[in-house]
Amino acid sequence: MVHAKSWTLKKHFVGHPTNSDFELKTVELPPLKNREVLLEALFFTVDPYMSIGLTKGKEFPVSECAVSFRVVESKNSAFPTGTTVVAFGWTAHSISDGKNLEKLLAEWPDTLPLSLALGMVGMPSLTAYSGLLDISGVQGGETVLVNVAAGAVGSVVGQIAKLKVSCKVVGAAGSDKRVACLEKYGFDVAFNYKTVKSLEETLQKASPEGYDCDFDNVGVEFSNVVIPQIKKFGRLAIAIRGPISTYNRTGLLPPGPPEAVIFKELHFEGLPVYCWQEVRQALKGLLTGVSEGKIQYHEHITEGFESMPAAFMGMLRELGEAIVKA
Ligand SMILES: NC(=O)c1ccc[n+]([C@@H]2O[C@H](COP(=O)([O-])OP(=O)(O)OC[C@H]3O[C@@H](n4cnc5c(N)ncnc54)[C@H](OP(=O)(O)O)[C@@H]3O)[C@@H](O)[C@H]2O)c1
Repeated sequence: MVHAKSWTLKKHFVGHPTNSDFELKTVELPPLKNREVLLEALFFTVDPYMSIGLTKGKEFPVSECAVSFRVVESKNSAFPTGTTVVAFGWTAHSISDGKNLEKLLAEWPDTLPLSLALGMVGMPSLTAYSGLLDISGVQGGETVLVNVAAGAVGSVVGQIAKLKVSCKVVGAAGSDKRVACLEKYGFDVAFNYKTVKSLEETLQKASPEGYDCDFDNVGVEFSNVVIPQIKKFGRLAIAIRGPISTYNRTGLLPPGPPEAVIFKELHFEGLPVYCWQEVRQALKGLLTGVSEGKIQYHEHITEGFESMPAAFMGMLRELGEAIVKA
């Protein structure tokens, strides 16, 4: 008999979450039925977009946290014991009928950490990949601006803009340590937007002719400064589950993108990564890039399932994909 620990939300938080919003529960799982598998968690992600689901009152434990699981008992021949899959839920053990399980790529090398299936070779990178290469339609030689550039999404946007499309890439990040990362990742210009005297002037200096594409992970105030600097017929790719700058705010939000969006006839398209069709192909490209050391990454790994709420509350302070090791 397996006792499964799960984190649940006691009450939906307003603004920033606190420990008292979460509750750890243990339930006894029933024996497996035909076609079912027993899953044991290996790694969890805590991502900024999960905050939206929480404040809107979604059933976040099942819907808003990617987990890599190992099949530890199986009555489903499609998922034999030992298979690694990606699924959802803040739960250390669970039973699945196999319907919503995504198998790890067969090509996954033994040398690569499995945690990367949730970050560098997972959903955040797919957001970068689809947003930049598919939706923004960026062309070789163009100039791309990305904010939260050292983050899970932004760091991949910058690197594939250089590696796959040969763009000039300008990245904004919120600390000198992160700026150093961007330099290591090969960004052409990187700056700390928190310490520059003027964001507007810094952007102008980094690309006096303007920007062809802005991959916006932040929204609101940042967008308002950037959008006027996008070239006519330029592209604004917004990671639509953002904007991150509004997630834990309460009260009225500042006004959104300015009129320049209309006058510059900017192409504006939403980016829901789960609706994107090219997932397996993109994951293979990312896997190759990481395996060959051409795409670099950072993970912040917190130990222990009991640390899920602490990791969730601290993720915005950490560099790269935030992972919890079960
Ligand atoms: N469309 C989709 O399907 C989809 C999928 C995944 C992610 N997203 C979105 O993509 C964006 C980036 O995600 P990510 O996983 O790469 O994020 P992340 O790296 O975990 O982002 C955290 C970072 O955001 C930055 N940030 C900037 N302004 C902020 C503010 N006002 N409050 C808090 N943090 C702020 C901080 O970095 P700096 O200090 O360096 O700026 C912070 O460390 C998010 O908006 C996310 O919701 C969308």
